Amino acid sequence: MISRSALARVSRNAAARSTRSLSTRASTILSAVDIPTNEEVPGVYDGTWGGTGDILESVCPTTGEVLARVQSASPQELQSALEKTREAYEIIRAVPAPKRGQIVRQIREALAAKRDELGALVSLEMGKIRSEGVGEVQEFIDIADSAVGLSRMMNGRLVASERPGHSILEVPNPLGVVAVLSAFNFPVAVYGWNLALSLAAGNATVWKPSPSTPLCSVAVTKIVAGVLEKNGLPGAVASLIIGGRSVGEAIVESEGVDMVSFTGSEHVGRQVGKVVQSRFGKVLLELGGNNAVIIMADADLHLAVPSTFFGAAGTAGQRCTTTRRLYVQRSIAPEVISRLQRLYASLKPGDPLDSATLLGPMHTRAAVGIYSSAVDKLRSEGAEILCGGAVYGQDALMGHLAGGNFVKPTIAIPKSVDVKADIWQKETFAPILSVGVFDDLEEAIALNNGVPQGLSSSLWTRDVRNVGKWIGPAGSDCGIVNVNVGTSGAEVGAAFGGNKTTGWGRECGGDAWKQYVRWSAATINFSDEAPLAQGVSFSSSS
Ligand code: UN1
Repeated sequence: MISRSALARVSRNAAARSTRSLSTRASTILSAVDIPTNEEVPGVYDGTWGGTGDILESVCPTTGEVLARVQSASPQELQSALEKTREAYEIIRAVPAPKRGQIVRQIREALAAKRDELGALVSLEMGKIRSEGVGEVQEFIDIADSAVGLSRMMNGRLVASERPGHSILEVPNPLGVVAVLSAFNFPVAVYGWNLALSLAAGNATVWKPSPSTPLCSVAVTKIVAGVLEKNGLPGAVASLIIGGRSVGEAIVESEGVDMVSFTGSEHVGRQVGKVVQSRFGKVLLELGGNNAVIIMADADLHLAVPSTFFGAAGTAGQRCTTTRRLYVQRSIAPEVISRLQRLYASLKPGDPLDSATLLGPMHTRAAVGIYSSAVDKLRSEGAEILCGGAVYGQDALMGHLAGGNFVKPTIAIPKSVDVKADIWQKETFAPILSVGVFDDLEEAIALNNGVPQGLSSSLWTRDVRNVGKWIGPAGSDCGIVNVNVGTSGAEVGAAFGGNKTTGWGRECGGDAWKQYVRWSAATINFSDEAPLAQGVSFSSSS
């Protein structure tokens, strides 16, 4: 029998062999972001780089090429990184908030200097088109800008006391260690949303990225670590622990992790929520979306249709905010559908790094399977498939794309608009748009709200009365309620997140920073008496 260490040696040798033959396409991008191309990549950072656990492979979704082999955390390394992160918290919490803001500003500058290179890496490893990859890095830069400003404005309050000579302060203190468990589809921005606010608020962060996008997290962590080290701060202020499921579970269970910010499936989010709640930790959940666009007859179709096209087919349907359902008012339905079909017909699979490409691959082979099963289910339930409905055959995929996970963006008209039917209720993380017809806005709102998820929604109309209804108490029940703007592509200024089974979490903008602190209510008595509140008397002489 071959021993474990011999096995490891074999796989290490194989790794060395195959990484040496890395394509120029990949090696140029990896070198530009300081990822080694001829050896295994350490996937643990807590002030020093390491990783002696299992080897994870980063596979390019466009070509099937193994981009790198990444060393994940062993159980001991995981525990030690968590301890170091805790120690780093005690240092960073003592740094005044505006000074922490200056660290965030330097991180912002360092990211901006590498924005295009990092964007290309996102495109290479995740598979989204280059401009979206760069856009994602821009999103991190934008939230860093917000966090720099906030670092001088994360104010508490002075509350009027009912007792003479008393003051009440509400003080936002740092929380502790914040774990960020991020998903493959936004391998940079979602970490950025959390890191920027969490660091400005005085916390240390531990990042466990998706195991299928380890290189994005290594490249970003190198940039952040460079800034921390230059400022004489412990690197474990922003630790990185790459690993699979067991690493995620250990982080979620750890009493030393004060808050878990999780982005991913509803199924896993439910487990994360329960475990963190059972130890009374704080949890922030960003789970599934099943987002609808409603187009009223009075809408500007030349805006509504291309926007819906981007929302549904952009990012190959792999945003949480992707448009999955389209409801069109009856009189304009044929026109909207035929215009959409024309746009879909223009899509061709391509290398996402090529600036002309609009359609990149699915992130994994497994995702292709999920797409195919969803299309099969639509067919078996009598839906009409207007376009797409199949994976791309080898004939359509030239040269290096032959090993890619390309599927055809699909428009389907299910047999009925009954929102309680399975095909409308479930989120499929793939470019499949289901279309239904409605007669009035109330019906459309009921369809929009009739699913378990509540992330993003969008109404196209020029009638202000519809707008009032849509954004009010009887309107959309989602966290994002847009008007004449698609479901995806939110800016960092507004709180991002969804209601119902999306998990109620809010990240980046709005008041999201308030979740990354522990609020201390401090009543201070400056007087020579010690009266009780509510006039309560507790003295034997009265
Ligand atoms: C996600 O899909 O997980 O609004 C995040 C958007 C982006 C963020 C999406 N700003 O589509």
